[in-house]
Amino acid sequence: MEILIRPTPEEVAVTAADILSAHIKRGAVLGLATGSTPLATYRQLIARHRAGELSFAGCRAFLLDEYVGLAPEHEQSYHYTIRNEFTAHIDIDDAAVHSPDGADPRPWEAAERYERAIIDAGGVDVQLLGIGTNGHIGFNEPAGSLNSTTHMETLHQQTVVDNSRFFDSEDEVPTHALTQGLATIRRARHLVLLATGLGKAEAVAKLAEGPLSASCPASSLQLHPQATVVVDEEAASHLVEKEYYRYIEAHRPAWQGYDGQPIEGVL
Ligand code: PGA
Repeated sequence: MEILIRPTPEEVAVTAADILSAHIKRGAVLGLATGSTPLATYRQLIARHRAGELSFAGCRAFLLDEYVGLAPEHEQSYHYTIRNEFTAHIDIDDAAVHSPDGADPRPWEAAERYERAIIDAGGVDVQLLGIGTNGHIGFNEPAGSLNSTTHMETLHQQTVVDNSRFFDSEDEVPTHALTQGLATIRRARHLVLLATGLGKAEAVAKLAEGPLSASCPASSLQLHPQATVVVDEEAASHLVEKEYYRYIEAHRPAWQGYDGQPIEGVL
């Protein structure tokens, strides 16, 4: 796991956008996340697109998750949110932006279809992730299987509280979601997890330095051969080996790209 520590959330977004841009230029299958943390990264990518530096024309996208019971046009559905905040502002084909069908009355079938669609697309090249204060990724809550595929999950009460800021009241937050499973997420070729703010510090420490455990679903990144964690100083504040992570970055070989590929022409 590579851990990149940046002074501010804005600089986290710049680094994340740099990593994603390298994949986007190759026409990647993108794994997208909703939530507050990736928003600054999406703004960076939109700005680069508007400046004529970046085209998403060859890209396809798969969302991590979707609430069960919300229609796609509902303002809090992730189908709507990702368009509103990101994909409507770039040149990706709207039909190439996929999310689980949370409105299907047979969610287990919607889950299976989604898993299949990701496989049929050749898999996700780069998966963007946030992390919940309880260590969840996607909607994989504590104590779920480390080997899960796309499935329906009951939201943890903490997640309902955390997400109620987007709804008029806590009662309106759906109780269930369809989410890519931890095995689905780990099949992506590059994982990029972002975390900012003190509220995420404990979860980040558990993810990187705690035991591999279903109690911290994000710790399943420890099993992945190419996971990059980009955090600000606050989110990094509980990491014991913080200075080592800085040392690693300071001694990065010149040929090593942040997207995991050797940089062409450096050697
Ligand atoms: P946040 O959510 O980015 O809104 O903090 C992250 C998550 O719950 O995965």
